[in-house]
Amino acid sequence: MATKIALFNNKGGVSKTTTCFNLGWMLAEKGKRVVMVDADPQCNLTGMVLDLSGEDALENFYRSNPGRNLKDALEPAFKSRPVPLQAVDCVDVSTRPGLFLIPGHVSLSEDETSLGIAQQLSESLQGLRNLPGSFAHLLEITAKRYDADIVLIDLSPGLGSINQNLVATADYFLVPCSPDVFSVMAIDSLSRVVPRWTSWANRAVKLEALSDADYPFPEPNLKFLGVVVQRFRLKSGQPTRAFQRYFDKLNDAVEQTLIPAFSKADLMLSREQYVEAGMDSHYLLAQISDFNTLIAHSQQLRKPVFTLTQSDVGRQGRLWGNTEANINNFRKTFEELADKVINLTLIDK
Ligand SMILES: Nc1ncnc2c1ncn2[C@@H]1O[C@H](COP(=O)(O)OP(=O)(O)O)[C@@H](O)[C@H]1O
Ligand SMILES: [Mg+2]
Repeated sequence: MATKIALFNNKGGVSKTTTCFNLGWMLAEKGKRVVMVDADPQCNLTGMVLDLSGEDALENFYRSNPGRNLKDALEPAFKSRPVPLQAVDCVDVSTRPGLFLIPGHVSLSEDETSLGIAQQLSESLQGLRNLPGSFAHLLEITAKRYDADIVLIDLSPGLGSINQNLVATADYFLVPCSPDVFSVMAIDSLSRVVPRWTSWANRAVKLEALSDADYPFPEPNLKFLGVVVQRFRLKSGQPTRAFQRYFDKLNDAVEQTLIPAFSKADLMLSREQYVEAGMDSHYLLAQISDFNTLIAHSQQLRKPVFTLTQSDVGRQGRLWGNTEANINNFRKTFEELADKVINLTLIDK
């Protein structure tokens, strides 16, 4: 069975989507088969894979590819149609063998309300009992169809019922952050919300209505992988003083608030596993500096910064020399991130 990893932070703009795409690509480069899931109605991840530059591009994609997105694939469950869910016909990321995408849908949030009601575990559950287990079932059959090792789930910001479902039923989650005051505040709310979601899932799995459903709610077993801090500026190879201050605050919040809360909620792997993966008490999976001008090439060519070539960026001589060194540094950073993820999730063991 594929390992499901959710990228979650209720704060937006912290590189959840960028990390999902880059990490997915790197894991595929390392020989893993990876299905990425765009569970954000903003569809940014879908836009990193498909060319959505033309007006109505997304609508056109939906029209010519019926059923080929997360919302449509779940429709039999959400519309109570008497047909079983079917594995999604994923989009191949054309230049990266082994990497696939379940595209997102701009109207996915329409399903939020019914899922929310179903997840309140009230008497009304009977009619909606197939919803809470439907996401996990769809991801499982799709992963099976693609013989995937890993399913990477990109979530929207916020604390809605879809995020609750996908985080609580994942095997692992990681938390992208940026070194600013809002991320420090978000750590505080994550330390309350994720334990609440897992205790909900632990209750949900015991309900007969959900275990007897067509798509039974899966046994929860969520574990925390760590934090990815992204998008800070460097001076002489080090984060600038202003960023370092927020790094320190983030580290403190992780160590003093997040980890105690996650330990209490049984969301942690054993200490030795993190140490073996090369992590200290700040649970940092990766520290990724600002891509600067490389981000424009990466977005235009729909490939990660660490795969850009000289002809992609069109630079010569010493200018290319500096750029190449930067690209190689980003490659090393993402290789190390992917290695830590593989090591922690025991995919190879
Ligand atoms: N390391 C980075 N350097 C420069 N820009 C980045 C970096 N990571 C992300 N971005 C940019 O920041 C913005 C927000 O990132 P995104 O991945 O969409 O965040 P989220 O999914 O958390 O909302 C995007 O425009 C993205 O291109
Ligand atoms: Mg996003």
